[in-house]
Amino acid sequence: MMADESSEEKMNLVANKQVILHGYVKGFPKETDFGLKSSAISFSIPNGAVLLKNLYLSCDPYMRHRMSDHISHTGTIIHSFTPGSVLVGYGIGKVLKSANPEFEEGEFVWGLTGWEEYTVIHNPEIFRKIKYTDVPLSYYMGVLGIPGLTAHVGLFNLCSPKKGETVYVSTATGGVGQLVGQFAKMAGCYVVGSASTQEKVNLAKQKFGYDDAFNYKEEHDLRATLGRYFPEGIDIYFDNVGGEMLNEVLLHMKPHGRIAACGMISQYNLDEQEGIRNMFNVVIKRLEIKGYVETDYKHVYPEYLEFAIKNLEEKKLVYVEDIAEGLENGASALVGIFYGKNVGKQLVRVAAE
Ligand SMILES: NC(=O)c1ccc[n+]([C@@H]2O[C@H](COP(=O)([O-])OP(=O)(O)OC[C@H]3O[C@@H](n4cnc5c(N)ncnc54)[C@H](OP(=O)(O)O)[C@@H]3O)[C@@H](O)[C@H]2O)c1
Repeated sequence: MMADESSEEKMNLVANKQVILHGYVKGFPKETDFGLKSSAISFSIPNGAVLLKNLYLSCDPYMRHRMSDHISHTGTIIHSFTPGSVLVGYGIGKVLKSANPEFEEGEFVWGLTGWEEYTVIHNPEIFRKIKYTDVPLSYYMGVLGIPGLTAHVGLFNLCSPKKGETVYVSTATGGVGQLVGQFAKMAGCYVVGSASTQEKVNLAKQKFGYDDAFNYKEEHDLRATLGRYFPEGIDIYFDNVGGEMLNEVLLHMKPHGRIAACGMISQYNLDEQEGIRNMFNVVIKRLEIKGYVETDYKHVYPEYLEFAIKNLEEKKLVYVEDIAEGLENGASALVGIFYGKNVGKQLVRVAAE
């Protein structure tokens, strides 16, 4: 590089605050597993790339797998983070600079970005552009993004709810759960949810329209509790937690019941996964348990987006988010979801729009 090019390059350097993982995590993640680093980023970008100003970052349970030194599930598409390097996750950004004819400066997009103020995206084609901006931008990390699609696909495509059926949703007020509850009510079902605090139980019933809800942490006999809330049994279980809850739910499923295996957050911080002992119920009750990953349903996202926007506009769908301010609070927000601290979908606001 010539001397004048080098000084021009230096002039293009801008301070870039980043959240990094110090080292691989064992057990429950802690805030001290992460750190803040100040590095520099060049605002001169290569052809085909865009420079993003990150606005919102999504705190997602799957990120726990990426904090481990190896990912034990074969066939997974998830890779470990690199200690010392910036975290990567879903986020919403504004195109500050574009060297790609498909993207204009000032456009809003969402996709996989860095947990930092600015990120150079070398393959912006895989980002989605945000065209409808009559709602808060942050909704694209929730009701208008992956949690929404996950809730919709899991309930409708996998479980085909029918009017009058009984539906149980664990993690009833989270990013995914709050939408599953509302979608199941739209389908005319009787819907019960569970969560870890009274505040969330009230939210489930008063805001999201669950017919009933309970605090699973206060119920010491899950079998009896489920029997009380579902005296006739459960037609559909939307499983966000796995583990002992799934084990007990199997006993309460009705014949030909359906289970959407969406996530198993109760297992993500354990060295050894808990076993499910009541599997014979799957045989005798002819149950369907179906696992899925939302990325397999990208093709139905445009249709889902239209559905969700329409229902938000008509006020038939509500949405609650929990927004932490600034990258300084990013680690505590991310770790918090594994302790149930979030009330609604957890995000980090990196910068104002
Ligand atoms: N299959 C897919 O494609 C896909 C896509 C997105 C998300 N997911 C899964 O969907 C589930 C919900 O994700 P989300 O993004 O909506 O997160 P979220 O529900 O907004 O946040 C996580 C919640 O999980 C609960 N939780 C945390 N640790 C727990 C534990 N040890 N045992 C039981 N519950 C625990 C807490 O809620 P409570 O207060 O209610 O306990 C916490 O607030 C997760 O399992 C996630 O992995 C799957």
